[in-house]
Amino acid sequence: MTLYGVGLGPGDADLVTVRGREVLETADVVYTPGRLSRSVATAYVDEERIGDLDFPMTRDEDELRRAWKAAAAEIAPRARDGTAAFVTLGDPNVYSTFGHLRRTLDAFHPGVTVETVPGVSAVSAFTTALGVEVAAGASLTLHEAARGAAPTGPDRMVLFKVTDVPATHERLVDAGYEVVYGRRLYMEQGETVVTDDPEELTERDYYTLAYAEKRGLEAEPATATFETADERGEAGTAVEATDGDASADASAGGQR
Ligand SMILES: C[S@@+](CC[C@H](N)C(=O)[O-])C[C@H]1O[C@@H](n2cnc3c(N)ncnc32)[C@H](O)[C@@H]1O
Repeated sequence: MTLYGVGLGPGDADLVTVRGREVLETADVVYTPGRLSRSVATAYVDEERIGDLDFPMTRDEDELRRAWKAAAAEIAPRARDGTAAFVTLGDPNVYSTFGHLRRTLDAFHPGVTVETVPGVSAVSAFTTALGVEVAAGASLTLHEAARGAAPTGPDRMVLFKVTDVPATHERLVDAGYEVVYGRRLYMEQGETVVTDDPEELTERDYYTLAYAEKRGLEAEPATATFETADERGEAGTAVEATDGDASADASAGGQR
């Protein structure tokens, strides 16, 4: 019938969407490409419904093609006779292995229907975790920064695979960026770290991203003026005049 590509979100099982959970709870078989995705999926899938796939740790493209053909050959009959799911951390269509599977199924098993259930991507989860607001109209670029790389140019970047934080940091700062890092955000496994100090992240950890913003960007949303004391005074008067309720003021302040 169908293969569902299910996005699990960044790693906490309670950030799997309701739709994703429904698919996981009802699929005949659920394939997991890695240890971490498996540990999230098993919050909703009994061990006996977990499917086995073998993925080599290689950059050799021939070997990768062989592995994806083998994976598609295993999954296709299960998806034709019933419902199968393949999970990925984050969203299945953002820097993910799911694209390889979809293309391989399309090429060699065109009878299999493929549907995607979106997940909370690290591309969006970082904003809340790192306290960053990407305001309307701002441009944001996604890059990789593995092994000390430091792409430059765009005003704002989310950098994935930041495996050598000190080296990447030095280059970005030299190029005029302010940088903040997030490691294992919303993940049950391992320690979550949010910091702008590269010394806290000298150990390599694949689940590390960075947000880099050029120093001195000028664009400011209209309500940014409330950050000055004068403007806050005017705003406080306006709230009291409207409802005279101090708790309403406090709860509005809590909504950041
Ligand atoms: C191959 S990409 C997968 C992205 C995923 N499909 C998504 O939508 O979030 C892996 C990279 O995403 C970032 N990443 C994914 N989940 C993360 C998390 N929970 N905390 C920090 N970084 C994360 C890391 O930079 C990691 O190297």
